[in-house]
Amino acid sequence: MLLSVENLIVKYGNIQALHGISFHVNEGEIVTLIGANGAGKTTSLHSITRLPPPEAPKVVSGDIKFKGQSILKTSPSAVVKDLKVALVPEGRHIFGNLTVMENLILATYAREKGTDFSGEYHRIFELFPRLKERRDQRSESLSGGEQQMLAVGRALMTGCTFLLLDEPSMGLAPVLKYEVFRTLKRLNEEGMTILLIEQNANLALQLAGRGYVLDTGQIAAHGTSEELLGNPEVKKAYLGG
Ligand SMILES: Nc1ncnc2c1ncn2[C@@H]1O[C@H](COP(=O)(O)OP(=O)(O)OP(=O)(O)O)[C@@H](O)[C@H]1O
Ligand SMILES: [Mg+2]
Repeated sequence: MLLSVENLIVKYGNIQALHGISFHVNEGEIVTLIGANGAGKTTSLHSITRLPPPEAPKVVSGDIKFKGQSILKTSPSAVVKDLKVALVPEGRHIFGNLTVMENLILATYAREKGTDFSGEYHRIFELFPRLKERRDQRSESLSGGEQQMLAVGRALMTGCTFLLLDEPSMGLAPVLKYEVFRTLKRLNEEGMTILLIEQNANLALQLAGRGYVLDTGQIAAHGTSEELLGNPEVKKAYLGG
């Protein structure tokens, strides 16, 4: 098991956001965590990435293990550098005043100096040809879909082998949604482990092998994507009937 979240209780001040959730991700899997607004999806990811305060959710009890070892005391930078886990955050958070290329270069800062990353830039431009055409353009001038591609590309430039994505389809036109999801499928086929957070349950379950339904800080259902797609309660609440 690559990642296991065990009975995790998380608070922001007095607000309890996660009420003892458990889920796991095996190496090479695509697992999705679906749920409505405020269900605790982003909180779950931020608990894993150890985001620094003030956004940091506080783990009250439970554990998060990576390859069997607790990472609750692991620094955010070590999560990226040593565990090779990278987050594609909700809302993308790219640096708008920097160019596409500068955003990608910035993501390599924690990697070994003097490394030749040209092959990796090439790979990102091959995955997302639109970024190649716009490589010297300021990122704030990209469309929402292109910014999402850049956010994925930037995560890849950390050298990660495990991608955490927080609602990558949000705000994208259908054609771009599919483009981003097709790329995620391809990355997974090439060996990337993926934990995908989505409100768009239908799309997420088409891509993932397994999923968990998060409802107000608790796991309400879990199973293979086929099981969840066929579950009457999941259908009613998350799949439009
Ligand atoms: N920084 C914070 N301070 C206080 N409460 C927070 C903070 N961030 C999240 N919460 C609360 O924790 C709960 C879970 O929020 P979270 O952002 O994890 O939900 P989500 O499933 O990602 O929702 P969305 O789909 O809207 O992004 C919510 O009740 C939210 O109000
Ligand atoms: Mg969220």
